[in-house]
Amino acid sequence: MKGEIHAVGLDIGTSRVRCVIGEATSGNAMKIVGVGDSESKGLRRGIVTSAEAVAESVRKALNDAERSSGLEAGSAVVNLSGEHFRGDNKSGVVAVAGAGREISDEDVDRAIESASAIQLPSGWEIFDRLPQEFIIDGQDGITEPVGMSGTRLEALVHVVSGPSAGRQNLEKAVRRAGLEVERMILEPLAAAEATLTDDDKEYGCAVVNIGSEITSMMIFGRGAVQHTSVFPFGGLHFTKDIAVGLRVSIQEANKIKHLHGCVAGFLLDDEERKETIEIQPVGRSELRGLSREILCDIMQPRAIELLQHVAQEAAATGAQIPGGVVLTGGGSMARGMVEIAEQVFDAPTRAGFLEPSYFGGLAAEVRTPVWAVACGLALSSMRMQQKSGAGSGRSGVVGWFENIREKFR
Ligand SMILES: Nc1ncnc2c1ncn2[C@@H]1O[C@H](COP(=O)(O)OP(=O)(O)OP(=O)(O)O)[C@@H](O)[C@H]1O
Ligand SMILES: [Mg+2]
Repeated sequence: MKGEIHAVGLDIGTSRVRCVIGEATSGNAMKIVGVGDSESKGLRRGIVTSAEAVAESVRKALNDAERSSGLEAGSAVVNLSGEHFRGDNKSGVVAVAGAGREISDEDVDRAIESASAIQLPSGWEIFDRLPQEFIIDGQDGITEPVGMSGTRLEALVHVVSGPSAGRQNLEKAVRRAGLEVERMILEPLAAAEATLTDDDKEYGCAVVNIGSEITSMMIFGRGAVQHTSVFPFGGLHFTKDIAVGLRVSIQEANKIKHLHGCVAGFLLDDEERKETIEIQPVGRSELRGLSREILCDIMQPRAIELLQHVAQEAAATGAQIPGGVVLTGGGSMARGMVEIAEQVFDAPTRAGFLEPSYFGGLAAEVRTPVWAVACGLALSSMRMQQKSGAGSGRSGVVGWFENIREKFR
């Protein structure tokens, strides 16, 4: 995919792998030209348990996306998931080195490096250093320090860290599928890229990505990430509750959840309340009737419980989120999830559809919250390539520093 900018986002989840191929347009938006997805195998809670099985799932999703776009992908930006990530707010100070005390790119890099000099558990690494703001000689709130004058530069940075092995094994599995990894981005950050406006990030907003086995949250404020949390639960918990509660298989429970599930009883109208659905109990040949109200009684308490964990964590940070809560991921698609989250968070809540001004092309097909991560990953790839010069494909820390320099120039 040489010449014009093409961007590939690969969201490797525990239940599905999704691939989005995008193309830069003359404006700021990305035209989605190819999409593909496949059933995911070889992962548990976002962590690779069989590299070959993951590679096979990636190949299937990638082939579909390549076929629909007519393009061949060489590299992708990939999601980073797992239950052991953490985000810490750190600060670092440096003396401005240059003549005339004018702040240079190098000063900014040093300040960010100094903020990231943290003690990590053995086998952990830093995945992302997300600058929040800079302080020059006590003057805070500065987002573009390069070129300004001062003697003392302080960087406030949100440092995301986690176990190296999870990242390395996912990267190996992607390579096995024939793709290079340009960069890995934490799942809720990718979801935010696709769904939040600059105003959401500025005034305060929480993105909650509910996957199959992992739910993650990032809180934004003052234009930057202020908090990251990961929780070891997701949509699969509802499936398991239904399987146990109704004595049906996991497959049957999943089907019931998708076709008839609702997590907010107050959304059922009188007719739905009286309605019964047919289910197939384990080990019985005959079908059994189930009232939709009972199904809702199983799902609603679990939704409240899971969301309460997330809301308590958000409240504990003390962050203001006037922009409310944005729900992404398959788990957010259950009927009533937005309404219940609105009550639990006591904040305006919306489903994280793609931000229309960022996407064109096939966007209508994939505008639902389940595709937010894959689309955000592709969008990030496009923006990185645009910033570092089309097709240069620089990645890793070097690429990251280039982006940061651009951002804070
Ligand atoms: N319409 C729907 N109603 C209810 N649940 C849904 C719906 N669509 C998807 N889900 C559930 O969402 C979950 C999958 O979400 P998603 O595809 O975001 O997860 P994943 O990325 O594969 O997993 P993870 O991020 O945890 O590794 C599954 O539990 C699935 O049953
Ligand atoms: Mg996911």
